[in-house]
Amino acid sequence: MQDLDRLKSELVASIEAADTLEALEALRVSVLGKKGRVSLMMRELGGMAPEERKTAGQALNLVKDAVAAAIDIRNAALSSAALDARLAAEAIDVSLPVRPETEARLHPLSRTIEEVVAIFAEMGFSVAEGPDIESDYYNFTALNIPEEHPARQEHDTFYLSPDSDGRRKVLRTHTSPVQIRTMEAAEPPIRIIVPGRTYRSDHDATHSPMFHQCEGLVIGDGIHMGHLKGCLIDFCRAFFGVDDLPVRFRPSYFPFTEPSAEVDIGCTRDGGGLKIGMGDDWLEILGSGMVNPRVLANCGYDPEKYQGFAFGMGIERIAMLKYGIPDLRTFYDSDLRWMRHYGFLPFDAPSVHAGLAGGGV
Ligand code: DAH
Repeated sequence: MQDLDRLKSELVASIEAADTLEALEALRVSVLGKKGRVSLMMRELGGMAPEERKTAGQALNLVKDAVAAAIDIRNAALSSAALDARLAAEAIDVSLPVRPETEARLHPLSRTIEEVVAIFAEMGFSVAEGPDIESDYYNFTALNIPEEHPARQEHDTFYLSPDSDGRRKVLRTHTSPVQIRTMEAAEPPIRIIVPGRTYRSDHDATHSPMFHQCEGLVIGDGIHMGHLKGCLIDFCRAFFGVDDLPVRFRPSYFPFTEPSAEVDIGCTRDGGGLKIGMGDDWLEILGSGMVNPRVLANCGYDPEKYQGFAFGMGIERIAMLKYGIPDLRTFYDSDLRWMRHYGFLPFDAPSVHAGLAGGGV
């Protein structure tokens, strides 16, 4: 009995001292496992006289129960400590600032598109898309630019090899074909913008063979030139962050609008640099007009019933003006030093409320 008491305190002490779950399990096997110390002693009971077996059996059971209970307690303590350690090791403090060494930057073109989308979203526009490879019909004909129209030459179109039917697809020269695709697929009222890539065979300091435009289209009942002006004046002022920015509508010509107007914003070149805002000079930034009734009819709309306005702008151009980027070609150089200078922190998403001024980094 003496021996069993000692054995019990010895075993319980070593269990309490086990410092890992693995060590505890090894101890359990060595005591209570099939060939464990206590199990072997149990087996020896078989050779004893009945009286002796009873007392020894009871005493041994006490040892076994005490050991099992100690193991349970230690197991619970070690498991909870292990969980605490894991939670501490895996903890992420989401309130920490982004590491200063973060190199990633959002390209100013992506940023500019996000800003344009944010402004028009606020006015109830949604974003539409269309394919970069277009048919002649959508890129030209449906937009009232027939085969022999001089506007076709001005577009420096990239033509693909002829299809089996002899027709040549084009890389879209503007985002305007998405006007047609949208009108074919939906009924008025329509209020969309179309930011996207466009292509022209032209390459110099102010032209790139691939560039970006954003188209806009509003169609409804009773839409007039006043809507066009209000919408575009608001856009220009919000985009450039100048509340009293002068905006001028200058008569122009586009085959798909009638009447057409180019939109200029005020600026000054006093003191060498260009400053957008009140001044004595103008910068052209947009093409616009009332959708030509022929275009409406091409899409199956009754021009007597519906009217609309459309506009188109070059994303590179408005980005260069807003962010003072002097050379168009640098947009596509993938120069990391340039990105560090002109790029934006990726989590700094623009919104009309949070501010669109875009301080850069
Ligand atoms: N598609 C014209 C271009 O690429 C831009 C444009 C002008 C779009 C007037 C329009 C518009 O929707 O109404 O030069």
